[in-house]
Amino acid sequence: MSDVSAWRELFVATDARGLAHLAHAAGVAVGSLDQPSHGPRSSLTPAQLRAGVRALDICPPDGVDLNTVLDELGAAVWAHGVHPLDVACVAHLHPPSVVPAVVSELTIASSNQSMDSWDQSPAATEVELHLMDFLGTRIGFPASASGVMTSGGTASNLLGLTLARSWAASKIGVDVLTSGLPEHARTWRFLASNQAHFSVQRAAAQLGLGRDAVVSVPTDDTGAMDIVALDATLELLNGQGLVPVAIVATAGTTDLGAIDPASLIAQRARDVGAWLHVDAAVAGAFIMSERLRERLVGLELADSVTIDFHKLWWQPFNASALVVRDVERFDLLRVRSHYLDRGDELEGMVNLVGRSLDTSRRFDAAKVVASLRTMGQRTFAAMLEHLVDLAVYAASAIDASDDFELVAPVSTVSCVFDAPGRDADDLRRVQQELLADGVMVLGRTTINKRAALKFTFMNPLATSDDVDELLSVVAGRLRG
Ligand SMILES: Cc1ncc(COP(=O)(O)O)c(C=O)c1O
Repeated sequence: MSDVSAWRELFVATDARGLAHLAHAAGVAVGSLDQPSHGPRSSLTPAQLRAGVRALDICPPDGVDLNTVLDELGAAVWAHGVHPLDVACVAHLHPPSVVPAVVSELTIASSNQSMDSWDQSPAATEVELHLMDFLGTRIGFPASASGVMTSGGTASNLLGLTLARSWAASKIGVDVLTSGLPEHARTWRFLASNQAHFSVQRAAAQLGLGRDAVVSVPTDDTGAMDIVALDATLELLNGQGLVPVAIVATAGTTDLGAIDPASLIAQRARDVGAWLHVDAAVAGAFIMSERLRERLVGLELADSVTIDFHKLWWQPFNASALVVRDVERFDLLRVRSHYLDRGDELEGMVNLVGRSLDTSRRFDAAKVVASLRTMGQRTFAAMLEHLVDLAVYAASAIDASDDFELVAPVSTVSCVFDAPGRDADDLRRVQQELLADGVMVLGRTTINKRAALKFTFMNPLATSDDVDELLSVVAGRLRG
């Protein structure tokens, strides 16, 4: 038999040497949070990055000291990553991480609870359930609500729409999990605005309905679902014998941040017997602010809600949740197994695998709870409100400028604009040059066939002066 003692230091780091390694690792990790000289990204080319990374021998015959490995990764990877805390990192819904979450990640990894079954995560399961209850209460759901953590908004939307599909089938006496889609499913439709995230179409494809089963509802000038158009769409479907099994309202669209009118949509969903899923991946955080919560009116009427902690809750990837109004709906996707979720456990032992499309799963709820407790509601709300204020400020600066024109009013934390007299190619050139030079990670998109640039404000440390500077840099580049 092997001498196992030599392997101990790979698993246990409580001696002086282990602690020194951890302190070093923590230094590298925290150092990567704040690199003022770095800019939003280094200006290395794809080829240079590849050469630096490929120089690492992934698994040499004999292991290398951890400090050396961490330093190498620091030099080859972290130093050339994107730096979300830089004020010029404004392309995507990509937040800087808060320190409590960063350090909690270490505990999540070291304790390695697996959230599929109670016997692999007894206390952690309770924490996740506690967090889901907290979300349910903040959303305004009844006590029957609960949820589950997922890997992201895409996964949460897929889970919500999986439940919607299974629910539609159950209403006509079909158990989709057992017998697959009934013939009648050819008539099923998901309705979502033309600004909804592409994961809705992807979910329809994965669920066997096909992307064509997603009916796109026109939006108004802000990018929010037009309720008159929704009524017309429902009437049209009815006339064609098609069945709206789910309506997806978006609370915070990806580009414009627009918030669909959930209470009006909820009324329509109830009238036609459709499941209402709200994709609140972006604006779901508004449940934490008294000032902003009113923009989500009607959220409490949903059947399921997507919340993305790795957006405006400043959590490192991955951290998302799907919250349902009635926890029993999860039974629609429960698959018992002889080794994991048998159904004969002692009272109170919840196996979260029964709610999830994953089996083994990280304890991401821990970092969210640690962060919220550390930040507190007031600071959280103030930071969120600051980001909304920054987006409004950017819009007014754009309005006042001859160089730019707003594409739509600001709804949440993004600001989409173009430049009069410039075409899509000019905008592409500027955005790509700024990225290649490591000066700015700027957003670029297309809204109603109009090419546009985009700021997405995710960093609460950014100020209105930073916004002025960003605009002046973009204007300078446009002028060439
Ligand atoms: C509105 C909306 N929903 C869902 C998603 C997908 O989220 P994730 O990237 O976490 O899968 C996004 C991503 O930006 C989004 O903007």
